[in-house]
Amino acid sequence: MAYIEIDNLQVVLELATGPLAVVKGVSLAVEKGEIFGIVGESGSGKTMTCTTLLGLTPNVARVSAETLSVGEHNLLDKNWAAVRGREVAMIFQDPASALNPVFTIGAQIDAVLRRHTELNKKARRARLLELLEQVGLPDPLRTAASYPHQISGGMQQRALIAMALSAGANTLIADEPTTALDVTVQAQILALLKSLRDQLGLTILFVSHDLAVISQVCDKVAVMLHGEIVETGPADAVLKSPDHPYTRALLDASPKPGSRGTVLPTVAAQMVLHGGSHA
Ligand SMILES: Nc1ncnc2c1ncn2[C@@H]1O[C@H](COP(=O)(O)OP(=O)(O)OP(=O)(O)O)[C@@H](O)[C@H]1O
Ligand SMILES: [Mg+2]
Repeated sequence: MAYIEIDNLQVVLELATGPLAVVKGVSLAVEKGEIFGIVGESGSGKTMTCTTLLGLTPNVARVSAETLSVGEHNLLDKNWAAVRGREVAMIFQDPASALNPVFTIGAQIDAVLRRHTELNKKARRARLLELLEQVGLPDPLRTAASYPHQISGGMQQRALIAMALSAGANTLIADEPTTALDVTVQAQILALLKSLRDQLGLTILFVSHDLAVISQVCDKVAVMLHGEIVETGPADAVLKSPDHPYTRALLDASPKPGSRGTVLPTVAAQMVLHGGSHA
């Protein structure tokens, strides 16, 4: 059995306008220590799929699956207290809004350590500084004492990664973690995620709409379209010789160095679905 095992996952939203299926039979198997990418246009169900691993789907969502498990945890048991933070943690696109503006970085991470570990105050302080150092923050003491607005977006995302690791999670869901950052900082965060995988054996589910980013960090990739996985496999194979027309359209539409004027992925999807040419 794979470390993350999702078999025939369905998510239906019970909306005022009626039921809306947004994840339609997704199956995924992610091995321990793998960085697994999920790529697809806006609204294809990437975030919805990921949040089922934390029980963080919206109230209106009805979730069902044949299998939904991470490590030893059968998520269909809905024992979220044992899963959230302790096994699975998540980081988001906009680090600033994921941090509380009125508490220091140190206080926010300490709150997680207090809640999820037995460490005393002194040991928590040591652990906090160790975590900040582990995510590449050069001056842990200073960062710990800073409020979110006093540090850069890249440092905020590093702090959130430290927070995600603080309760001991083995699995990290990174939902567009670098989209809000500039290219240089983006590359540094990607390198950090890879090195944390190497050092800690983290399993990472990595959501992005950017194929260049996916090819840089992911071992495997699944391509989602309208709530379904249309193609999956080793990232280099899928990106080099895609089987599905939607993956080809995504590749055609992704900006290449030196190219100008590209078709947006969502337009490409329409072309595929309605039989247009995207050459
Ligand atoms: N709370 C909600 N109420 C109604 N519809 C929702 C809600 N949350 C998500 N949806 C819908 O569910 C579908 C899947 O959304 P999801 O957030 O998983 O997409 P995504 O692939 O992560 O997109 P993006 O790249 O924009 O983040 C979309 O059609 C979205 O509009
Ligand atoms: Mg999303």
